[in-house]
Amino acid sequence: MIELQHISKVFHRGQVNEVTALQQVDLQIAAGDFVVLVGANGSGKTTLLNLIAGAILPTEGKIFFNGEDVTTIPEHRRSRWVARVFQNPLGGTAPDLSILDNFRLAALRTQPKRPVIGINETFRREVRERIAQLGMGLENKLNQPMGALSGGQRQALTLLMSVMDHTDILLLDEPTAALDPRSAAVVMGTAQQIIQDLGLTAILITHNLRDSLQYGNRLLHMADGQIMRDVNAIAKQKLTLGEMYAWFGA
Ligand SMILES: Nc1ncnc2c1ncn2[C@@H]1O[C@H](COP(=O)(O)OP(=O)(O)OP(=O)(O)O)[C@@H](O)[C@H]1O
Ligand SMILES: [Mg+2]
Repeated sequence: MIELQHISKVFHRGQVNEVTALQQVDLQIAAGDFVVLVGANGSGKTTLLNLIAGAILPTEGKIFFNGEDVTTIPEHRRSRWVARVFQNPLGGTAPDLSILDNFRLAALRTQPKRPVIGINETFRREVRERIAQLGMGLENKLNQPMGALSGGQRQALTLLMSVMDHTDILLLDEPTAALDPRSAAVVMGTAQQIIQDLGLTAILITHNLRDSLQYGNRLLHMADGQIMRDVNAIAKQKLTLGEMYAWFGA
């Protein structure tokens, strides 16, 4: 379980450009929940994920994973619990290395020293099988450099790579924002499958309101650094796009 207690985040405190990105946020996310986070630009969504990942520290408040206070545990040490996928498909990969080598590094994500292990046939077969499930034909390109792929192809692989090593929590920050509709559907379908199969606790940020209705079992609406609405699975099923547009004043 993830618990945020009275979390506030102020950037540039005391300076003219002071920004309060989060204000006294209290949030509990149960293990295995798939939470979708929506909200206008600048409402604090990415800041919330950054705090959970440990990329930034809160100005006030505490963060717990399974009852353990992780507030001051740095990002690299939280990586044994947390995996992330970002909006930019270029992020999180080594473009000059082959697909297979990228998967090998991903499988060692939480290893502090990254021991050099050879790629054996079993590993190659496992990677090939996982990639084949995307239905993009990328399983035949394992030796191609990651940088030679399109953004959509790379994002689909980044998602698979994010769970090559153990994780409990998967954070997805607009993973389909740069993708065409078909690639976006592949990435979202794959994300849902992974979250379900591995029993992950997941948070997805998206500006795609259809996706926010289709995926996940809880929906949070953020505005001005606060959680304005918290919609459970049953209420979410009844929610309409029209009602959601109204949240955004659209
Ligand atoms: N590193 C930073 N330094 C200064 N201000 C920041 C920083 N990160 C975020 N902010 C500010 O905090 C507020 C919330 O930003 P955040 O990135 O969390 O928004 P968001 O909801 O993810 O928006 P978007 O939908 O555009 O991605 C914004 O006003 C932003 O300018
Ligand atoms: Mg953001």
